[in-house]
Formats: sequence, C-alpha cells, structure tokens
Amino acid sequence: MQPFAYIFKEALPVYLTNLPIPDSLGGWFRLGFKDFLALVPPTAAVAGLTYMSYLAFCPKGRCGAGSCDQKGNLVNPSILKKSDKVVDSVDVEDIAEKAVFCRCWRSKNWPYCDGSHNGHNKREGDNVGPLIISKK
Ligand code: FES
Repeated sequence: MQPFAYIFKEALPVYLTNLPIPDSLGGWFRLGFKDFLALVPPTAAVAGLTYMSYLAFCPKGRCGAGSCDQKGNLVNPSILKKSDKVVDSVDVEDIAEKAVFCRCWRSKNWPYCDGSHNGHNKREGDNVGPLIISKK
C-alpha cells in the first residue's frame, strides 16, 4: 500500500501542481510549445477515463462507433419499418414438412430464416437462432 499512498499523496499532487494550467482564458494563448506538450499526458488520461466510462454505460452492440443511437437499441433494424407492427401469420397446414422461422430480425427472407443470425451472433456476441417447426 505504500507505493499507492506515495503516488496519491505526494507524486500526483506535485505533478498536478506543476502543470502549466493558466489562471485565465488569456493565459492559454500565452502557453508555449513545451507547456502544451506537458498537458498532453493528463489530457490523454482524462480522455481515456471518459471513454472507458462511456463504454461501461454503453456496451457493445447498443452503440455505434460515434455515439449511442436509437437504431442500436432496436430489435428490428430493417424489416417493414413503415409498419406500426410487424405481424406474420402462417397456416400450419401450409407447412410441408418443416419451416424455419427467423427470430433474429436480420433475415432477408422474412419471416423465414436465411442464416443471417450466424453473422449477427458473430458480430455482436449474441446467441439467437431460428424457430423450427416440423410435422414429425
Ligand atoms: S436469419 Fe434470423 S434466425 Fe436465422
């Protein structure tokens, strides 16, 4: 624990005190190249911590590369988006022996599975698969 105590009680306060942070807005314009260079590591540390916090509250698969977006939180990203509700009806009597229905909402052959769930699962770390209805 002694190294941590030294870092947080002595080294870090001395380092922060010696940073060339101006007291006024005009002071920023009087900083030299070396002063800006000295501000790069703490700025990068703050940016990194901010980004890590952003990732913690915005897990993969729910956010785009730039920011959280409404589309990233949707179950249905592209099927019949002009409809208020996507409803499909299939008569069991019309199924010959077996029908494979999509449950991942990525199929290009909706409502049937076309294997798109494989790519989705690989990309997002998900585990969705089709609903298989068979007469046997
Ligand atoms: S394509 Fe959606 S479950 Fe297979």
